[in-house]
Parts: sequence; C-alpha cells; structure tokens
Amino acid sequence: MIICYCYNNILSLPIVSLMPLKNCKVIDLPKISDPRGNLTFIEGSNHLPFDFKRVYYLYDVPGGAERGGHAHKKLQQFIVAVSGSFDVVLSDGNETKTFHLNRSCYGLYLDNMVWRVINNFSSGAVCMVIASEYYSEDDYYRNYETFLEATKE
Ligand code: TYD
Repeated sequence: MIICYCYNNILSLPIVSLMPLKNCKVIDLPKISDPRGNLTFIEGSNHLPFDFKRVYYLYDVPGGAERGGHAHKKLQQFIVAVSGSFDVVLSDGNETKTFHLNRSCYGLYLDNMVWRVINNFSSGAVCMVIASEYYSEDDYYRNYETFLEATKE
C-alpha cells in the first residue's frame, strides 16, 4: 500500500513562514488515494504533537458567523476543514496570522495560549477540532484583555 502525504495549498512557501506564532503550524496528513474516494487518518502522537482525548466539530454554521474568540491555558488543538473552507485567525498578543483551511488532508496545529477566531465559513463547511484534553471551562480565556495580561506573566 502506498501512503502519500497531502500537500497543502500553501506548502510552496518556506515552512518557517507558517510558524510566526508560538509553534502553530500546518501539518500534512497521510492520504490514501483511491478511485472510490480518498482516505485520510490521524494516529494520535504519530501525526500530531499531542495525544488526543476529544474530538468536536462545528457545522451548519450560518453565513457570516464567527466561532472561537478565546484562548486556552493548556489545551492544544488541531483543526481540519473536513468539508468546505474557513479562516482561522490567530494572535499571540504580538502578531496576528490568518490561515485559510480548505482540504481534509492537512490541518492547523494550535498550541496553548493562542487567541483564535474562526470565520469566513463557506456554505456546508465542517470544522473538526481534535483536542488534547477533555472539555474544561476553566481552561479558557474568554476575555482578550485578560489573555493579553496572561501572556505577559
Ligand atoms: P466554545 O468552545 O466557546 O465554541 P467555539 O470555540 O467553537 O465557538 O463552546 C461553545 C459551547 O459549547 C460552550 O457552552 C461550551 C460547550 N462545549 C462543550 O460542552 N464541550 C466541548 O467539547 C466544547 C468544545 C464546547
């Protein structure tokens, strides 16, 4: 069996330019091409910088809606556009970077302490998020000023 790695649509740029924010980066996933349809899989720490405990997904997002608007104290996440497309806007308090996700065979790794907003959802987009921990509201910064203060500590 031949496993190819998907090449995202911005891989032609030097990978270092995709990592301006604390360790956040695009990760290409295995892609098994088949005339019957493609298959991509994710094996915990074999493909991601963390083992995961939780998967959730955003779907039926109305046009113009915005998700996220928070940062996490410890949680790491990996975001994949399993259908359609959307933008992930990241900020660490020093700089902001926007990633456009539109393929199922790569995703965006988000370290902790990164403010994220997800917007510009296409019709029918599905945003799958793989998370390093179970849900805990205590892990959120939901106020941007509080987050900025925490980044200076
Ligand atoms: P939130 O993380 O703010 O969503 P998003 O970042 O996608 O905009 O979560 C929205 C609501 O869903 C909030 O009340 C918490 C709840 N929730 C859970 O109960 N479990 C989960 O795993 C997640 C991600 C959210």
